[in-house]
Amino acid sequence: MTETMIAVIGGSGIYEIDGLEGAAWTKVETPWGDPSDEILSGSLNGVKMAFLPRHGRGHVHSPTTVPYRANIDALKRIGVTDIISVSACGSFREELAPGDFVIVDQFIDRTFAREKSFFGTGCVAHVSVAHPTCPRLSDACETAAKSAGVKVHRGGTYLAMEGPQFSTLAESLMYKNSWGCDVIGMTNMPEAKLAREAELCYASVAMITDYDSWHPAHGEVEVADIIRVLQGNSSKAKALVSQLPKLLGAERDDCPHGCDKALEFAIMTAPE
Ligand code: ADE
Repeated sequence: MTETMIAVIGGSGIYEIDGLEGAAWTKVETPWGDPSDEILSGSLNGVKMAFLPRHGRGHVHSPTTVPYRANIDALKRIGVTDIISVSACGSFREELAPGDFVIVDQFIDRTFAREKSFFGTGCVAHVSVAHPTCPRLSDACETAAKSAGVKVHRGGTYLAMEGPQFSTLAESLMYKNSWGCDVIGMTNMPEAKLAREAELCYASVAMITDYDSWHPAHGEVEVADIIRVLQGNSSKAKALVSQLPKLLGAERDDCPHGCDKALEFAIMTAPE
């Protein structure tokens, strides 16, 4: 058994966790540079928790400049075992409405201006990301959302775009109709890939704020609409997070899906 430490990477609108005992912000140094911010750690119902604001307090990092490698490495260094990503997204389906949450299970990575791997210089590794999220952790998020009274949808494909601009109408229609995507956001990649390389379980809670630009009745994405929905989503996200410690427990077995053993068959060359 290993001691559980749950990390929440909070997106736009989520800048803290309520009720953390012994909470303190700590600066963590990594070989990949500084993380987005200091990390808030403490415990909730006897379970160790950490919180990292993805964009930094004051929202100083754009989706492109978020230091994804430093963030994941810093969480690994402080003993995190399970990462819950919380982020805003647009929806490609009528029934996935603003205010609903989606427990994402697949990604299409269209980002192109970010460092995406811990490996490549001197040590080459190719990990599988066929199933990029952890079903055990996703189960806990689904149960937590339901007990927090949040309308939640299980499973969905997240199109990760570079941004910072939103999609054109043609892109939005292609992602929706040809590529079959369910939601779109700017931050879950390469975060999910790096979590797998770091052998950390990762689940993604995507909070819908808008219908992107495809929906004839909703027109284009308006930042004012996103902020209004985000404000409601933030209290729902905090309620979801508060349910996680009792669902995941203070100690855990090895991940039944092997997220914590991802490198076992992945290293191709090691430094001499
Ligand atoms: N985040 C929230 N809404 C989004 C959208 N429509 N596209 C990309 N990222 C988003």
